[in-house]
Amino acid sequence: MEYTVNYESIARQLEALTDGIPYQVANLANTSALLWQELPGINWVGFYKMEDGALVLGPFQGKPACIRISVGRGVCGTAVAKDKVQLVYNVHDFPGHIACDCASNSEIVLPIHVNGQIWGVLDIDSPHIGRFTETDKEGLKKVVEVLEKIL
Ligand code: SME
Repeated sequence: MEYTVNYESIARQLEALTDGIPYQVANLANTSALLWQELPGINWVGFYKMEDGALVLGPFQGKPACIRISVGRGVCGTAVAKDKVQLVYNVHDFPGHIACDCASNSEIVLPIHVNGQIWGVLDIDSPHIGRFTETDKEGLKKVVEVLEKIL
């Protein structure tokens, strides 16, 4: 299923929402709420932040999720280990995928960098196989760039 999303508009809204706000949790919470509101066909969106060498659950929208993910494990841990966006057409074909919501069928995970290091990841799940495309990947990179300036 192909969706049309105006990522430029989302990035500008995010700039406005976070402008001058020094509170990291508030900014991440509002980012997940904005993406939840603007992205059709998703069932989870949120953050995992690097804490003591592993990914730890941050602000999100969707069902309760697993709290700690080791680097190299699952889609999120793979994104960190490879420092590379993971665009997963069908999560059931991804070895080691961690199922938090059994409704999820596709996923995209983008590493977030601060001061040249991986700060954490943005993770988005969809109940639709193949929900995320190269267009989503490029658009979400713009959203992550806005965040990287304020984290
Ligand atoms: N599916 C992820 C785990 C996090 S949930 O999707 C919220 C993974 O395999 O890393």
